[in-house]
Amino acid sequence: MELLRFSLILFQLVSTFKTGICLSAPKFKVAPNWPDRDYYDEDGPPIQLNCLIIDGVNFTMVWTKNGSKIDPGKEQLLLQNKNQTLIFVEPKQVQSGDYTCIAFNKAGNVSYNGTIFITARSQETRPRVIDTDPSTTVSRVQVGDTIMIGCTFDVGGSMEALMDLTLNWFKDDIALKDNNHTVFGINTTGENNQLSFLTINGIQTSDYGTYTCYGENSKGNDSSKITVAVPGPRKNNLPLYLIIGLSSGGALTIVIVVVIMLYRCRKSNKYEELTWEEPNNYDVPDHKIEYDVFISYSNENLDWVKDALFENLCNHGYEVCIDFKDFTPGMAVTENILDAVYKSHKTIVLMSHDFLKSMWGQFELQQALNRATMKRSDLMILIKFDDCKVPAKLMGKTFLDWSDVKVRPHFWSRLYEAIGEPAISNNHNDVKEAEMHKINVNDKVIDIENGINEFNENDTHDNEVWKTINEMVKTFNEVTIDR
Ligand SMILES: *[C@@H]1O[C@H](CO)[C@@H](O)[C@H](O)[C@H]1NC(C)=O
Ligand SMILES: *[C@@H]1O[C@H](CO)[C@@H](O)[C@H](O)[C@H]1NC(C)=O
Ligand SMILES: *[C@@H]1O[C@H](CO)[C@@H](O)[C@H](O)[C@H]1NC(C)=O
Ligand SMILES: *[C@@H]1O[C@H](CO)[C@@H](O)[C@H](O)[C@H]1NC(C)=O
Ligand SMILES: *[C@@H]1O[C@H](CO)[C@@H](O)[C@H](O)[C@H]1NC(C)=O
Ligand SMILES: *[C@@H]1O[C@H](CO)[C@@H](O)[C@H](O)[C@H]1NC(C)=O
Ligand SMILES: *[C@@H]1O[C@H](CO)[C@@H](O)[C@H](O)[C@H]1NC(C)=O
Ligand SMILES: *[C@@H]1O[C@H](CO)[C@@H](O)[C@H](O)[C@H]1NC(C)=O
Repeated sequence: MELLRFSLILFQLVSTFKTGICLSAPKFKVAPNWPDRDYYDEDGPPIQLNCLIIDGVNFTMVWTKNGSKIDPGKEQLLLQNKNQTLIFVEPKQVQSGDYTCIAFNKAGNVSYNGTIFITARSQETRPRVIDTDPSTTVSRVQVGDTIMIGCTFDVGGSMEALMDLTLNWFKDDIALKDNNHTVFGINTTGENNQLSFLTINGIQTSDYGTYTCYGENSKGNDSSKITVAVPGPRKNNLPLYLIIGLSSGGALTIVIVVVIMLYRCRKSNKYEELTWEEPNNYDVPDHKIEYDVFISYSNENLDWVKDALFENLCNHGYEVCIDFKDFTPGMAVTENILDAVYKSHKTIVLMSHDFLKSMWGQFELQQALNRATMKRSDLMILIKFDDCKVPAKLMGKTFLDWSDVKVRPHFWSRLYEAIGEPAISNNHNDVKEAEMHKINVNDKVIDIENGINEFNENDTHDNEVWKTINEMVKTFNEVTIDR
């Protein structure tokens, strides 16, 4: 009898559950994290906004743009996945706006919103050099070596603009000829940019000097300089890996080469009597992580960096590495930067017009990007300080946007979140984490920090490397700063 009553209660319980009294309000399965604004090009790749709801909740999903319900057919948008995914198949400028997804059922609702900003592809413009490879100087080039240098020009993105572009090279302001000693080359790179590269076969003494890449179209011109420096007086010949593909992957190769050279250079300065005929298993002196963050910025932004960024980070307990406090006077700027990047857990890059203009900034950026991608984690924190154009290399990365007043109220907490807890005690004897860096030059295994990544001779093809980097950058994006 008791058993029967119990079963009855159980049955009632189950049926009340079934009739939906216990229905719970929709919840996001994954917290939505839409890509950042300022990010899309008209007619660029599709944009996908996800609002994934936990399975098993009966819900209706409604999307609005600027507060009005979306009519997918009329607005050329696509709803998929039980309306949990909104796709801009061919992004158009007119689709820009404030988008919201709302999932609701009888028990309640959940929503998420964000601004999607699609910019029209620009018309033909005056060519601008947006990247040089290497950034300023090729050093340690010996007579007989073959080198390649290059500049990437942006002319606004249309095919017509590319056709209109004339590219040339000068050495010490004298026009070079495209012959079998100085060979001109042109490649179209991502986003319709044009890479102008120069191969110098069998360097002779007369080839040292400053080279200028020059681009011109009906709208104007731009140029940039790269110096091929006379090698220093040291006798020991360093092997050179200077025949470098100059596609995007080449930038990485160059950074690796620069890293290797700086370390070799430093070590050989310390131990003058050592020679380098047999640089097997060359180990860099151990590096201790001494700072939570290194701040890379342009001097033009010094006021804000000093009074706001540096001040706040210090007050929050972070050990901050910054040039005016920590750079060793008399040491080369590049060495100081390299040192700083390697001695810090994270590198904050303050992107501004001035920063992106300065070559020094580009070098720092490359170092940090390189290190970040090597370790597959969120080592680089990007701050967009003004309405500068984010370099193509960093497209798709998320950043903290100081220039966006809507972001400012959350800016500092997000920054601290991105850096993590202060890990470095002020007492340097008490450094909690010490990480090791090893560079094995001879078989080109670059083993920086915990040996996570290896580049062997066989897979240093630019494309391979670049693919790997893109993978890592993607991973990096997923775990890092959100909007
Ligand atoms: C979900 O909806 C279906 C049909 O609309 C209904 O049969 C089912 O009981 C509902 N589920 C819940 C948990 O409310
Ligand atoms: C998806 O949205 C369309 C148009 O807004 C609507 O007609 C349809 O019922 C929705 N489907 C679901 C499963 O919510
Ligand atoms: C929606 O809002 C955005 C800015 O928030 C604005 O640029 C856009 O013109 C608006 N779109 C419409 C159709 O009102
Ligand atoms: C969502 O829930 C809130 C209360 O939690 C309510 O005020 C609001 O009207 C609901 N919105 C929709 C679209 O159902
Ligand atoms: C987005 O949501 C936030 C918080 O819910 C709200 O303050 C803000 O006004 C919303 N923005 C838009 C464009 O609807
Ligand atoms: C390269 O230049 C040398 C002389 O400067 C000439 O003899 C030779 O034929 C050239 N080679 C080619 C492939 O043009
Ligand atoms: C390049 O453009 C500047 C103006 O921006 C002009 O003064 C200069 O003459 C141009 N150089 C050449 C070589 O046409
Ligand atoms: C230019 O493109 C060709 C073919 O796409 C490629 O083989 C070559 O390596 C590229 N050169 C540079 C310098 O990127």
